[in-house]
Amino acid sequence: MPALFQAFRHGTLPAGGRIIGVGRDDMSDEQYRNLIRSRFDQVELAKRPSQDEFTRFADLLEFVRMDLSKPADYARLTATLARRKADTVVMYVATAPSLFTTVCEQLAAAGLNTPQTRVVLEKPLGHDLASNRAINETVRRVLGERQVFRIDHYLGKPAVQNLFALRFGNALFEPLWRREHIANIQITIAEELGVEQRGAFYETTGALRDMVQNHALQLLCAIGMEPPINSHADAIRDEKLKVLRSLKPWTAEALAQDVIRGQYGAGTVAGAPVIAYREETGVNPQSHTETFVALRTEISNWRWAGVPFYIRTGKRLAGRDARIVVNFRPTPHAIFNSQIGVANRLVINLQPKDGLELHLLAQGQDNRRNSQTLAPVQLDLDFDKRFGTERVGAYERLLLDVIDGRLNLFVRSDEQEEAWRWVEPILEHWKNDMQGPRLYAGGTWGPSASSAMIARDGFCWSEES
Ligand code: BG6
Repeated sequence: MPALFQAFRHGTLPAGGRIIGVGRDDMSDEQYRNLIRSRFDQVELAKRPSQDEFTRFADLLEFVRMDLSKPADYARLTATLARRKADTVVMYVATAPSLFTTVCEQLAAAGLNTPQTRVVLEKPLGHDLASNRAINETVRRVLGERQVFRIDHYLGKPAVQNLFALRFGNALFEPLWRREHIANIQITIAEELGVEQRGAFYETTGALRDMVQNHALQLLCAIGMEPPINSHADAIRDEKLKVLRSLKPWTAEALAQDVIRGQYGAGTVAGAPVIAYREETGVNPQSHTETFVALRTEISNWRWAGVPFYIRTGKRLAGRDARIVVNFRPTPHAIFNSQIGVANRLVINLQPKDGLELHLLAQGQDNRRNSQTLAPVQLDLDFDKRFGTERVGAYERLLLDVIDGRLNLFVRSDEQEEAWRWVEPILEHWKNDMQGPRLYAGGTWGPSASSAMIARDGFCWSEES
């Protein structure tokens, strides 16, 4: 809803459009509008509507009471939609995955799966390969693949689109973007937040399903894929699929050494004390659910063979920080004395701010001694400064893409299945590993085993260098 409001504010929502809320509560349109109004209090100030703006936005809002599990209720939606003819109907399905099948079947039974219909599916789309496949099969029975928009909001983040621009709009990095020049790549998605009110959901999900199977792997695809033959959705998705298919298969040894799971204990985040995961509402006090994952993988193809890709994500970490760090190889032979520092590195910052940092070595300032001491310097491209802070946010961008029928930034079913296929051995391994996740104090960078894992290759996480 905040994203739709931003689109409304920016004047990009199609004229004459309607936003129809669907839910089990017995609410009038007016009550629904008041509910939405009250929820905007939780949105950051700059993105809240003024009274006048909300009055105009509220004109678009309607509510239909409907229990999605009851076939008879679909007639209400049909009747509401029939009141005004629409060129496009976008159904945004953010329900429990157990309802996806029913929803699709009932949409078809009610004749709502017309060529004008587009369906957005919010994750989790299943909890393993089999359940994901089952969902995809039902969806396929009633909708064409071009009508299905599997959303991964990380693909809508401006920094990810900039990554495509950096890689495929410039020739500069392409010759370097390979095993001969890159030592390792690190993808970090760190959150300060805990599980908040989603304890019960998170208990059966965990960080691997919540963040790695989707967001982190999509980032890995964006960084590792070959240049697509054009910018069409399937050209891009074909290349991402190839990356997922090339991920090194897991061996028992790799599962034991290269995947670290953690769970937050009590600690301090941003100066405030926080409770342990096991004390959160809805969480089993003996829970083995992971709130942190760090892993090492490789893309087994000519471009990347042997280059470690590290993925790390977790809740209650030391900062809200999502970034991709590309560490280039050092010079083959050193002719300067260089101070210790970070160089030969490209950082793609996703949040809290998005931008690029290129870390180089430059001649230091010590003219007196006329010494050839190099010092690390940083070239910054701050996208907020360059393009302003009022840029289109991830969900806003993605929703507008759905309305326009652009699938580039949405995930195809085969990509999703391949990602599940790859994470499944990890889930299986954990099922049989009675040790459970390692505890880490809230407000740290996760269990020390995560640093030990990367140190085995002779590297360290970017914040440790
Ligand atoms: C969601 C996860 O997909 O992404 C949440 O379900 C997580 O657990 C969120 O907090 C992170 O998104 P962002 O955009 O805040 O990094």
